[in-house]
Amino acid sequence: MAKFDLKGRKALVTGGARGIGAGIAEALAAAGASVMIGDVLADLGRETASRLSASGAKMGFVPLDVTKDGDWASATETTVKELGGFDILVNNAGIEITSLVIDVDGDDLRRMLDVNVAGTLLGMKHAFRAMRPGGGAGGGGAVVNIASVAATIAFPAIAGYSATKSAVDRATRVAAMESGKLGYGVRVNCIYPGLVPTDMGMKLASDIVAAGLAPSVEAAVGDVIGQTPLGRLGEVGDMADVVVFLCSDAARFITGAGIAVDGGMGM
Ligand code: NAI
Repeated sequence: MAKFDLKGRKALVTGGARGIGAGIAEALAAAGASVMIGDVLADLGRETASRLSASGAKMGFVPLDVTKDGDWASATETTVKELGGFDILVNNAGIEITSLVIDVDGDDLRRMLDVNVAGTLLGMKHAFRAMRPGGGAGGGGAVVNIASVAATIAFPAIAGYSATKSAVDRATRVAAMESGKLGYGVRVNCIYPGLVPTDMGMKLASDIVAAGLAPSVEAAVGDVIGQTPLGRLGEVGDMADVVVFLCSDAARFITGAGIAVDGGMGM
């Protein structure tokens, strides 16, 4: 049984083709929302949407590169048209390119800034335009940005990524303040996931080994678990449940908040 009710809500989840985003799309649908997945991976995105629709939920896929303003305009329009509104945006799409500071590459940094920071801000721009009163999407809503525990603590070999996720954290606060003060009626929050063994999470563990910071992937993962008071890695469902809560009316007085979903790693 769904823990929070999102019946009638219409959601767009970026980077929903796989990993944490696919889990968030599934959990929103299980809570009663209609969900559009936006991703650069069109085949996988369609496959995920069709798999999740087997539960009876209304699901769709829209091609979306979050770095492109024009893609956002059409993804927003498609969401409103196909779902009949747009009141939840989960800015989940993100990339991580591991590097020690001593080896930092400018192009890699700019790519991460583009996807993680510009992608999130462009998403909030289009969500605000559509969701604010008279915006055409029904009015009111919720945005959840996926930051990272890396925005709250130092972890080696991810200085660039950490910088982008700290930016997501700060942008969340400013956006929440603007939305509140200007009467857009959109709550904006973020979560800080701990390490989750998705494609991204496991690649990071291998990169840590390649950077000479751990003797093996098992040791790298073991180090993270050792730093986590709850004694395990995060699961996709741990993240998805908190996103569902933040999108629900149970969180109606929460905006501009960042919630650590990291087993206590960043406390
Ligand atoms: P993943 O790499 O498994 O999935 C990321 C998804 O985003 C993919 O479907 C990918 O195609 C999509 N994507 C990438 N660039 C895109 C773009 N320009 N436009 C649209 N879609 C794009 O990653 P994972 O682990 O599921 O991560 C999801 C989010 O959670 C990311 O923002 C990540 O930074 C964050 N996160 C992940 C953690 C982890 O340990 N896995 C820890 C903390 C935060």
